[in-house]
Amino acid sequence: MSAKRIAIFDTTLRDGEQSPGCSMDLSEKVRMAKQLETLGADIIEAGFPIASDGDFAAVEAVARECREVTVAALCRTAEPDVLRAAAALRDAAHPRIHTFVATSDIHLQYKLKKTRAEVIEMTRQAVGLARKHTDEVEFSAEDATRSDIDYLCEVLAVAIEAGASIINIPDTVGYTLPTEFSCLIQTIHERVVGDRDVIISVHCHNDLGLAVANSLAAIEAGARQVECTINGIGERAGNASLEEIVMAMKVRADRLPFETAIKTHELYPTSQLLSSIIGSDVQPNKAIVGRNAFAHEAGIHQHGMISNPLCYEIMTPESVGVPTNSLVLGKHSGRHALALRYTELGYSLQPAEVDAAYERFSELADRKKNIYDQDLIALLTAATRASGPLPIEPAPAARWASPSYT
Ligand code: KIV
Ligand code: ZN
Repeated sequence: MSAKRIAIFDTTLRDGEQSPGCSMDLSEKVRMAKQLETLGADIIEAGFPIASDGDFAAVEAVARECREVTVAALCRTAEPDVLRAAAALRDAAHPRIHTFVATSDIHLQYKLKKTRAEVIEMTRQAVGLARKHTDEVEFSAEDATRSDIDYLCEVLAVAIEAGASIINIPDTVGYTLPTEFSCLIQTIHERVVGDRDVIISVHCHNDLGLAVANSLAAIEAGARQVECTINGIGERAGNASLEEIVMAMKVRADRLPFETAIKTHELYPTSQLLSSIIGSDVQPNKAIVGRNAFAHEAGIHQHGMISNPLCYEIMTPESVGVPTNSLVLGKHSGRHALALRYTELGYSLQPAEVDAAYERFSELADRKKNIYDQDLIALLTAATRASGPLPIEPAPAARWASPSYT
């Protein structure tokens, strides 16, 4: 892997799936995992095998079905957890055991009820045991961003000594800020990793809406794996969104010279598949994959788009697999957009006819929030009745019968 290659660790099936309203059954998880493999994820975290028989079966099934990608199973730093993860990964072509323990004092005192020394010992034992079952072991320091830095570095060093080759730094509660997280990653790089062949990974939650920004800051500071989910689903406010991280690096390669193996034209189909499986729509204004991500309604924007899409589009819809560009027609739209839509619908109108249709369109748009292609055709019919026949070519049925992307 070249120095600038970023591994994409997808945790849609684990951290994503454990959030309310996002559960999936076994066959849905396998279907999603296969799509994630097609998308080009490097690692798929398929579940937390000790958590339930369903999670165990899902990890087993994904490991059997997905032979190209690395399949990870999550476990705490306890022997039965590690053994269950190892058993679920038995048939994997590329297995990874991902073991975690909290390192912040608040988690140690109130959740684990362990001393710092005990957590260090648990880390050593669990990573060592995991290494007996798989070559690739990832260690996560849960709540790393609220942990004492000296202690965090000590735990990470023990995990590496015991055989972990990926150390993950989670911002479990979505608390950190980009500049702060960047310093943390640099410190870990200098104090723990040095020139060893160990990958620093990050795992950011979105409680302050900063998961993607924090992940990108970490990459600039030396992280070479990012953990993320499709549509940003995950605990509470979610995880860092895979599609946003990948497209930020692609669109801003001038400032972020990093590569992933993601086939970006598979992003939208993957997002759609997830939303159909979990039965939850993506928010319309979601970056990259939301219904409105490539929609332009204001007249001035639409005019710019028609003249040259670069005026308002920093990436093409096609580059992320959105089937077509779409101008949403509403009360802010101008004549240019209306004329273009009529042309797309197969009607060639003279300027005076566009003006007449536009007048009716504006009246309608004041009353109706969404204007559909059928409304535009009805407007033309009304215009014909009011001022005699218009020289219009009928639209090919298939074009206006199919719903537009909006
Ligand atoms: O958010 C978190 O800390 C986690 C770990 C298990 C990696 O999901
Ligand atoms: Zn998490």
